[in-house]
Amino acid sequence: MKTIESLGDLQGKRVLVRSDFNVPLDDDKNITDDGRIRAALPTLKTLLDAGAKVIVAAHLGRPKGKVNPDFSLAPVATRLAELAGVKVTLAEDTVGESAKAAVAALEPGNIVLLENVRFNAAETSKDDAERAAFAEQLAALADVFVSDGFGVVHRKQASVYDVARILPAASGLLVAKEIESLGRAVNNPERPYTVVLGGSKVSDKLGVIANLLGKADRLLIGGGMAYTFLAAQGYEVGTSLLEQDQIDTVKGYLATAKANGVELLLPVDTVVAPEFKPDAPATVVAADAIPADQMGLDIGPKTRELFAQAIATSKTVVWNGPMGVFEFPAFAEGTKAVAEAISSSDAFSVIGGGDSAAAVRTLGFDESTFSHISTGGGASLELLEGKTLPGIAVLED
Ligand code: 3PG
Repeated sequence: MKTIESLGDLQGKRVLVRSDFNVPLDDDKNITDDGRIRAALPTLKTLLDAGAKVIVAAHLGRPKGKVNPDFSLAPVATRLAELAGVKVTLAEDTVGESAKAAVAALEPGNIVLLENVRFNAAETSKDDAERAAFAEQLAALADVFVSDGFGVVHRKQASVYDVARILPAASGLLVAKEIESLGRAVNNPERPYTVVLGGSKVSDKLGVIANLLGKADRLLIGGGMAYTFLAAQGYEVGTSLLEQDQIDTVKGYLATAKANGVELLLPVDTVVAPEFKPDAPATVVAADAIPADQMGLDIGPKTRELFAQAIATSKTVVWNGPMGVFEFPAFAEGTKAVAEAISSSDAFSVIGGGDSAAAVRTLGFDESTFSHISTGGGASLELLEGKTLPGIAVLED
């Protein structure tokens, strides 16, 4: 991949940066996790220090091609200015008069943040010509392009993919670091290579599991998706999350794991409750004894130990998806135990983005005890699936 250095002297140049500022907001539009903004800073600072005029394109949510103030990047502009310590001007549009005027007035060392690129329907259009036309308008604002929104590089969208075909383009520091870390785990893992998968639905991770059954040494399954695996083994799962239509697929995975010598570890016990509530009375039961009127909301203590042991004896660990409903303290122990085991192991460790990265932060773990915490949810999953990501392929030399 081309690096920022390949773009030459950036003094006074207009650099369009694609960042992923798709951060969670509460009802009052306060950012509840600014991890993605922080992760963008090294690239932005490098460009600002080089005397560039920095123009950032980003999205927030899925406004479906319409201007919608609920999806404005205004809270991001404020937080970015605080974190970067420079002036950040938020344009009122993406490629219109406001954006053009803000860029024309931009001084080296400052930032213009374009309003949500997804306010323009062409950004996410499936029509190549429509996307390319919008990318031309974005490209007209700048001299060069830096792709640094790792969380969105799996999307073939105008500000991610098409604009990189028009302007001289390079990867930013975040994209380079993500690709190096995830690539090390996915393509060249030191063994034993263990992948911990959780989250609610097995159907979200079918491609990942299928690919890992040919790559990983151990697969540890927790979270809501584990109940479909338990059901595939013939166990009753009460009112737990269950994807009935995936049971046959999962049976196939169990058989492939056996045939390939992949150790597939499932919960041996589970924390159950009669309802999905933070204060619901919790009990621990064996995985093959879930009562008909109870739902599994976390892995049990024996499973925590089993998983911690498997992690402690691994050289590479990738984790994607919580082990239970970690947002409720009574059901956070499993997720905590996995985070703890990874944090205290010497293995090269990658935490997939989305919920597991949020869990590590909300549960108060020291981020520096993990080798890499990814900013990508879908993007890191697609890498684990072995897919080529369009926003990366377009940056190849
Ligand atoms: C994410 O939050 O995973 C990225 O910003 C991509 O968002 P999207 O799934 O709406 O394309």
